[in-house]
Amino acid sequence: MSSFVITGGKRLSGEIGVSGAKNAALKFMAAALLADGPVELRNVPEIEDIHRLVEILREIGVSVKQSLPHQYTIDAAALRTSELPSALAPKIRASLLLIGPLLVRLGRATLPRPGGCAIGKRPIDFFEHGFRKLGALVSEGEDAHVFKAKKLKGTTFVFPLPSVTGTEAMMMTATRVPGTTTLVNAAMEPEIVALAEFLNQCGARISGVGTSVISIEGVARLSGGEATMIPDRIEAGSFAALAAATGSDITIIGCNPAHLDVPLLTLEKVGVRFDVAGDHIRIKPSRNLQAVNITTHEYPGFPTDLQAPFTVLLTQAHGVSRIHETIFEGRLYYTESLKQMGANVVLANQHTAVVEGPAKLRGKTLESPDIRAGLALVIAALTAKGKSTIANAYQIDRGYERIEERLRTLGADIARLG
Ligand code: EPU
Repeated sequence: MSSFVITGGKRLSGEIGVSGAKNAALKFMAAALLADGPVELRNVPEIEDIHRLVEILREIGVSVKQSLPHQYTIDAAALRTSELPSALAPKIRASLLLIGPLLVRLGRATLPRPGGCAIGKRPIDFFEHGFRKLGALVSEGEDAHVFKAKKLKGTTFVFPLPSVTGTEAMMMTATRVPGTTTLVNAAMEPEIVALAEFLNQCGARISGVGTSVISIEGVARLSGGEATMIPDRIEAGSFAALAAATGSDITIIGCNPAHLDVPLLTLEKVGVRFDVAGDHIRIKPSRNLQAVNITTHEYPGFPTDLQAPFTVLLTQAHGVSRIHETIFEGRLYYTESLKQMGANVVLANQHTAVVEGPAKLRGKTLESPDIRAGLALVIAALTAKGKSTIANAYQIDRGYERIEERLRTLGADIARLG
């Protein structure tokens, strides 16, 4: 397993490009199984989660060809099994997105029991209820969930909470289910809007996307098509937090600032100076950062995936900040690592951290717990004086492409070991 070795405490400068969105690309790849022709996807990030999904697709008979880096052509004509591979499928949450296409295409889907996860329990009850409402039979075995359907039929499904993959799974499946499906209390993330636009280009009839009520008229077939992934707003927001925490002058290029309204507002409140122009955000060196409170919320609120990078930033701000994580119950444990680095953080409960700053961070040997907290530790290590080693770089590679090479272009002292 590889680690990152980082010597921090330096100002960084320059430009950094943003990759295509992981949480869009994974869904587009799954949706390609619903099409009757090849789907060409561009600007797909070359990250571990995408590579795991490609392995899963190939194991079930889907052709996945790569002509160039970031460009994949997916053709599900030879799909041959409804059983998702038990060694691979539990590794990525996006496996859940394959249930619907398998049900539509083969009338059955076997999903190996999803494991726990560093950020919380990650239940799948919305998927079970949603697919039951569409007419599937769902049974829970010891090792797997089995979804079966002779015939699916449009329905109304009310999500207990706005779920990102839940909304995407139901929306994409309903495109090929006879009748009208209405999703209420649906999630509104930009990746969901992009997915619906792509499906509509392939012949789907989805309306209301980007609001909390989505309506889908089922169609008999979807054609193949092509799409370019939208920029990764979480990567862009993380680079902004990195620039602000290290007092650097960094221009983030190729992003969509409109997807980052609340994080940018938060930076403004912290006192970070920045300019937005077109698809660029330039973060300027800022002094006298101020504490703020953050509450994570579904889009368009403050994204849970930016909670950890912004908490690192708040260790450098004057005063007391409260971070309230509302989406996942296990997403603040990385603050223990920040504490070891010298941050003044107290975990008031599973959902609330209190940070008092500014703190002088020191390099440490740490381990990356998950994708986003992993990158937050990289940001902390670049902010800290001295050397840090961050083990389990795989977790970071799951979501960020060649991060060490890209950060080195900004002058960061970061190397991969092993
Ligand atoms: N939930 C349930 N039952 C379900 C599904 C969700 O109770 O069947 C709950 C969750 O426990 C959570 C809430 O609903 O409390 C919302 O979770 P959601 O379903 O929206 O999360 P997700 O779809 O599993 C996606 C992203 C996450 C991101 C969250 C929130 C993908 C593959 N994953 O997860 O991304 O944090 O939405 O925005 O799209 C990451 O990229 O590092 C990551 C974890």
